[in-house]
Amino acid sequence: MDRQETADVRQRSSAASAGVLEDDPAGAPNGTVASTPEADSVVRSDVSGALPEGEAEIELRGVSKLFTSRHRETLALTDINLGIRKEEFVTLVGQSGCGKTTMLRILAGLIKPTGGEVRIKDGPLWRGNTRDESALRQLGLVFQDANLFPWYTVEDNIGLPLALRKVDKKERRRRAHELGELIGLTGFERALPRELSGGMRQRVAIARALSYDPEILLMDEPFGALDAMTRDKMNMELQRIAHATNATVVLVTHSIAEAVFLADRVVLLSARPGRIRSITEIPAKRPRQLEVTAEPGFQDRVVNLRQQLIEDEERLARHGGVSE
Ligand SMILES: Nc1ncnc2c1ncn2[C@@H]1O[C@H](COP(=O)(O)OP(=O)(O)OP(=O)(O)O)[C@@H](O)[C@H]1O
Ligand SMILES: [Mg+2]
Repeated sequence: MDRQETADVRQRSSAASAGVLEDDPAGAPNGTVASTPEADSVVRSDVSGALPEGEAEIELRGVSKLFTSRHRETLALTDINLGIRKEEFVTLVGQSGCGKTTMLRILAGLIKPTGGEVRIKDGPLWRGNTRDESALRQLGLVFQDANLFPWYTVEDNIGLPLALRKVDKKERRRRAHELGELIGLTGFERALPRELSGGMRQRVAIARALSYDPEILLMDEPFGALDAMTRDKMNMELQRIAHATNATVVLVTHSIAEAVFLADRVVLLSARPGRIRSITEIPAKRPRQLEVTAEPGFQDRVVNLRQQLIEDEERLARHGGVSE
């Protein structure tokens, strides 16, 4: 997309569609997804995910990102307003290339937005070109590839962020043992990554991200490479870990069922440039069992989100690669 096309991309006014999302309106019983008309009415299109003042732990305010290189400009995200509450679990879905990773990297302070503001605990993440390092210390990151050091043991991989923070070896070992227990890898502390399965490696990556007690966990398709059964197990584990550590979680996934199972809210991004197309509340109480996925309320939401993605794809095709 050249500069003119970029400028021509119609930006929607988030103020016009600003809506505060309601809490569980259906009062779903434990472990079930309600399927009442009220519950369905919280599925909205073209919304702003802004929360009332002071309610958000992490906040994107009017965020956009334009990537500029010598040959092209890509407007990856535009006009993103999203507040995330403390201990909330938010999942991000959308077509390939719609800006999910970009959004997560912006939240992680790895890239600076070209417009708007990122706020963590009501303070700006960026002041000019300088990041607030104390805000960053509250973040844990997990990416699609476990990215472990092959010559480090499980224990040393888990303790690496602590070593970088100059925590002594005894404390690192204690913490690695504790986390090994939490992620179900007791007895594997001295194993090397190549001795582990894909799911185990991914759990080590999660433990590493948790090692310094981050209050906010940002995960980019952490289970993308796993088979369906291991993935189900990891979803249960992640739900348990998030609860045990009181972490706020933002997770990107290509699986709509996974997004609905894990989330308090599913944020669907539209294709190029990424905007918030809808936010879907998932009122099921926790802990959720896998059986919840068979319930009509759950299925309805999965079908609805899938339909939105299909419509988005059709819209994209009609507009030659740029969504409305
Ligand atoms: N560093 C970069 N430089 C230039 N363009 C980039 C850069 N990173 C991402 N983009 C562009 O921004 C857009 C969004 O990319 P992003 O990686 O955020 O998508 P995504 O939703 O995570 O896709 P996927 O589901 O395939 O992982 C794409 O058009 C991509 O080409
Ligand atoms: Mg991505």
